Amino acid sequence: MLRSLLIRAARNERLRAVATAFPPTRAVVSRFIAGEQVADGLTAAQRLAEEGMFATIDVLGEDTTAPGQAEAATAAYLGLLAGIPAAGLVGAVDVSLKLTSLGVALPGGAEIAYTNARRICEAAAAVGATVTIDAEDHTTIDRMHGIVEQLRADFPGVGLVLQAMLHRTAKDAVTFSGPGSRVRLCKGAYDEPATVALRERAEISAAYVAAARTLFAGQGYPMVASHDPEMIAAALVLAQETGREPGDYEFQMLYGIRTDEQRRLAAAGHRVRVYVPCGTDWWGYFVRRLAERPANLWFFLRALVGR
Ligand code: FDA
Repeated sequence: MLRSLLIRAARNERLRAVATAFPPTRAVVSRFIAGEQVADGLTAAQRLAEEGMFATIDVLGEDTTAPGQAEAATAAYLGLLAGIPAAGLVGAVDVSLKLTSLGVALPGGAEIAYTNARRICEAAAAVGATVTIDAEDHTTIDRMHGIVEQLRADFPGVGLVLQAMLHRTAKDAVTFSGPGSRVRLCKGAYDEPATVALRERAEISAAYVAAARTLFAGQGYPMVASHDPEMIAAALVLAQETGREPGDYEFQMLYGIRTDEQRRLAAAGHRVRVYVPCGTDWWGYFVRRLAERPANLWFFLRALVGR
């Protein structure tokens, strides 16, 4: 119930406007967001590199409703990628992007988002960066897969995200387990109806392990995106069973969440990539983090009251 309410709040424009203009809220979100400037994302990626970890940088934005917004989102990614050589991060960074940010929901949006994503892929290729397309709510998945297939014709390294909670994912994991296919597997952060998604934690975890098994047995590159110790342990077993070495797959976690575990895995020789969000449009991302863990909500409210 609380989770559903919060996930709905992530899309509430009035709450978004009030919260993002309110300095105390902005101070509290810094636990989960690297900063409001694209340069903050690069700085976080540099710090991670010093600690032997990798980054995937997300210039925050979603649910674009005007062509100008889609253009601005694309320009922000191009600016980020242009800053990679000076930051000493050539060949070391991935960027994560949301197709709704690039305009996929606008009239004629599939073409707009494809063109924008393509511009980003070209700029990424020039600095040795990879691109991963985030998964949004279930209504967007078919279009996302179509655009990924289009992009992969010229940029085979483009990755995509599968959400274990969706019923369709067992099949999608097979479809996307071919040679070189970069697939990030997560549980799923959206409030989906039971007609399309599992709702119980234990069922979602079981579906996660099943999809991970398909990806590890396949010929692609599995990216295990979870903070859940059970998922991490299951991935390690699957890696052993399928003869994969560290570097034939990777672990991914979110900025500010279980940082000790991120460091522990990296120190043990695993490839770890941290999802680094930056930018001013952080409301939706931030509220989904609150929804994942009620303790975050109390932390947030306490911090607000204390200020
Ligand atoms: P789970 O929620 O069971 O958490 C396990 C443990 O991790 C918790 O007990 C707690 O200790 C810690 N933890 C988890 N979330 C926390 C939080 N918010 N704050 C503090 N501690 C927390 N989703 C999506 O729908 N589309 C996408 O494209 C992506 N992309 C993505 C990239 C990466 C790199 C990650 C790690 C995750 C995503 N997600 C996502 C989010 C994902 O779907 C999921 O909502 C979260 O990762 C939480 O699920 P866990 O697997 O971590 O397990």
